[in-house]
Amino acid sequence: MNALHQTWEKLIEEKIEKKQQKDPYRPMLHIAPPVGWLNDPNGLCQYQGVYHAFYQFAPFQAEGGLKFWGHCTSQDLLHWEYQGVPLMPDEPYDCHGAYSGSALIEEDTMYLFYTGNIKFSGDYDYITTGRENNTILAVSQDGSTVAEKELLMTNQDYPKDLTRHVRDPKVWKKDDTYYMVQGARTTENQGVVLLFTSKDKRNWTYLRRYKKEGGYGYMWECPDVYEIDGLTVLSVSPQGMKQEGLHYANCYQSGTFFLEGDFHVAEIAGEFRELDRGFDFYAPQSFLADDGRRIQIGWMGMPDVEEHQNKTVADGWQNMLTIPRELSIRDGILCQNPVRELEDWWNQIFFFEGNYYGKMEPCCEWKLTIEKEVSITLAEGLVLRYQESEGIFWMEFTDHELGGGRTIRGSEIKALSSMRILIDVSSVEVFLNDGTDVFTTRFYPKKEQYTVNISGNVKGIYCWHL
Ligand code: FRU
Repeated sequence: MNALHQTWEKLIEEKIEKKQQKDPYRPMLHIAPPVGWLNDPNGLCQYQGVYHAFYQFAPFQAEGGLKFWGHCTSQDLLHWEYQGVPLMPDEPYDCHGAYSGSALIEEDTMYLFYTGNIKFSGDYDYITTGRENNTILAVSQDGSTVAEKELLMTNQDYPKDLTRHVRDPKVWKKDDTYYMVQGARTTENQGVVLLFTSKDKRNWTYLRRYKKEGGYGYMWECPDVYEIDGLTVLSVSPQGMKQEGLHYANCYQSGTFFLEGDFHVAEIAGEFRELDRGFDFYAPQSFLADDGRRIQIGWMGMPDVEEHQNKTVADGWQNMLTIPRELSIRDGILCQNPVRELEDWWNQIFFFEGNYYGKMEPCCEWKLTIEKEVSITLAEGLVLRYQESEGIFWMEFTDHELGGGRTIRGSEIKALSSMRILIDVSSVEVFLNDGTDVFTTRFYPKKEQYTVNISGNVKGIYCWHL
């Protein structure tokens, strides 16, 4: 640990000690930064039985800034404990940001692969000049501190037709070979995913790329490749896709393609499918738990958004991660549902049928069975509604103050039979038809606004924890 690392560690601790006491929107179940700004989940893994989640962390300002890796751990994927800041931009090769990356677990070692960002000051376009994205390996034995860092690749090692934007290594092992995907932007302004291989985790060879012609954006960030229920998924976060009707309504997108066949040779097959249709979802990453579950966590937020705000900035922090979601394939569709640990967490349960109006706990879950139509108003100003005759599910803020400026999102759904709504103080995650479609948003109710109003032909269960 060098002197810069030690100085920062002290400054971050001081910042946390002095954090504001008033914090009405802090979640109970979700990962949020103690102070400052959070973005992408990084290095998700289960190491020696414990779940680890790292995240992009700018500790000094709620509006963002220099990126570190924040760290937290959990026994059950629901209660997370902050563990400090193991990765810092403290070397010449990562001095302007320890950017996103992933974890590989082998025996008693955690290998963290990430991007070291360098941005020169001067008259640059920061696309083909003025910037470097290095691939770095950080090794940890205890999962909480980094023993050594090693520069593995620089822009000179990437294919020549790329801009300086190459980042977010996701690494896995298959048989006796290691694989790494990285997101990239070509000089033709096409988003692509690069595939590298290695026999020793340190020397990497570029093998090939995944790409798709025709309107999929100029840059693909945070790629992920995994096999699930016999299918191979390529997950990417494209920048620069144009809105098409109800699709791609956010500033940037996150979604999946299926790969046809073995990932060594496979091409992208089929269409891009958005992972989340709400306002706040980006840069998801997945990991394989010891029990074989493929679990995904996303950033409940989005870069470069101008239309809406997060009210927690006034409390000294901004953004959180989504609830960990179990992935599965049903009828050829990738489904996301809250991890099953959530089922056991609630200790109060109330059954109802037909309409319902009343107060709700700030952290609670609603599970509904629906016939043909439903309309739910949360906190007097967030409406979730569906009518089979129209065939569109809507998430609409009728109170713009409640949504910090968020407006409306929708998705075509032929039939809606079930719905789970997870509310955690300042977030709402809606899982439709057993996780086939998901809508995620932040919201900011006043204390007295924690109410729910349900109408339609509905049966439901309301769960909460005391
Ligand atoms: C995605 C992203 C990544 C990058 C990180 C920097 O939100 O832009 O591509 O590594 O954030 O914080």
